[in-house]
Amino acid sequence: MTIWSNVIGTGGYLPATIRTNHDLSEMVDTTDSWIYERTGIKSRRIADVHETASSMAEIAARQAIEMAAIDAEQIDLIIVATGTPDRVYPSTACLVQERLGIKNCVSFDIQAACSGSVFGLSIADQYIKTGFAKTVLVIGSEVCSRIVDWTDRSTCILFGDGAGAVLLAASDRPGILATHIHSDGGYEDLLYCPNPQAAAQVRQDEAGFISMRGNEVFKVAVNTLGRIVDETLEANHLQQSDIDWLVPHQANTRIIAATAKKLGMSMDQVILTLETQGNTSSASVLLAFNQGVRDGRIKRGQTVLMEAFGAGFTWGSALLKF
Ligand code: COA
Repeated sequence: MTIWSNVIGTGGYLPATIRTNHDLSEMVDTTDSWIYERTGIKSRRIADVHETASSMAEIAARQAIEMAAIDAEQIDLIIVATGTPDRVYPSTACLVQERLGIKNCVSFDIQAACSGSVFGLSIADQYIKTGFAKTVLVIGSEVCSRIVDWTDRSTCILFGDGAGAVLLAASDRPGILATHIHSDGGYEDLLYCPNPQAAAQVRQDEAGFISMRGNEVFKVAVNTLGRIVDETLEANHLQQSDIDWLVPHQANTRIIAATAKKLGMSMDQVILTLETQGNTSSASVLLAFNQGVRDGRIKRGQTVLMEAFGAGFTWGSALLKF
């Protein structure tokens, strides 16, 4: 009998503080219209001082557990994707396990930058398919605001904070149909965030903040996401019209529109959260998925294509029947 990974719950958390493009125009030399036209972003959420990746992850996770109506003790694996962990160790996943009061499960973090949640779904699916785990919690949680240089107008306009979660359970009903994940480590210079604590030498201008050559990242992202769409459809013998919803990583509306066009989809079939959330890195796909599920757009039995692209570069897709 084939074992599938079914979505049994979703959750999401956004910090209360809203930072608008207008707020940013008082911090750096930029305008609301420049940011909106180039990116599609109007505002983003910023974590309060007491909030961390694990505290936001806990809230998103509790929502997913509530939707699934299970006991948290049933979770046997927690995977947290984050580039902004509370601590180098213990992993944020271990901290979330403790926050949820789960004594008997396995927890670990993964780091795949903005592709983190898609990579997390892929890993979870392998563990469920092999029978290693029956109920898996996948979370993407990020406090990007803490690794953004708020004096750099080319990056600070893009990012926001938040957490998204999904609960998967083993089932004989089709769920995750396929995942396709890739990386190419040859692009470090185009997008990176230094770790001053562990680096042998830290350049003065680096100081632990995101550094990006946006224009070059943009071009690679559009081409790569086009290829992952082709790969996913071809490998799973699907036509464009078989996909009901595109749930993309939320980096730039123009990148998302190019992917939707490749799928022959109207933007009405795309779950967009970018305008009010910005790029929440590994949290963005699961936050968008949660929104689509909770507002009733994504319905049981429909086919969803998630895709993401991030530093590394890393990229991938997750194709699932909800
Ligand atoms: N406000 C006003 N002007 C700005 C600005 C800002 N916030 N940021 C940059 N500029 C200026 C630049 O200095 C440059 O000026 P110049 O022409 O005088 O040199 C000009 O705008 C164009 O800069 P460029 O970087 O070529 O703009 P762009 O059209 O590529 O848009 C991004 C910039 C970052 C919005 C876009 O490249 C992008 O979204 N890239 C992908 C980023 C991404 O997805 N990253 C995460 C991947 S997970």
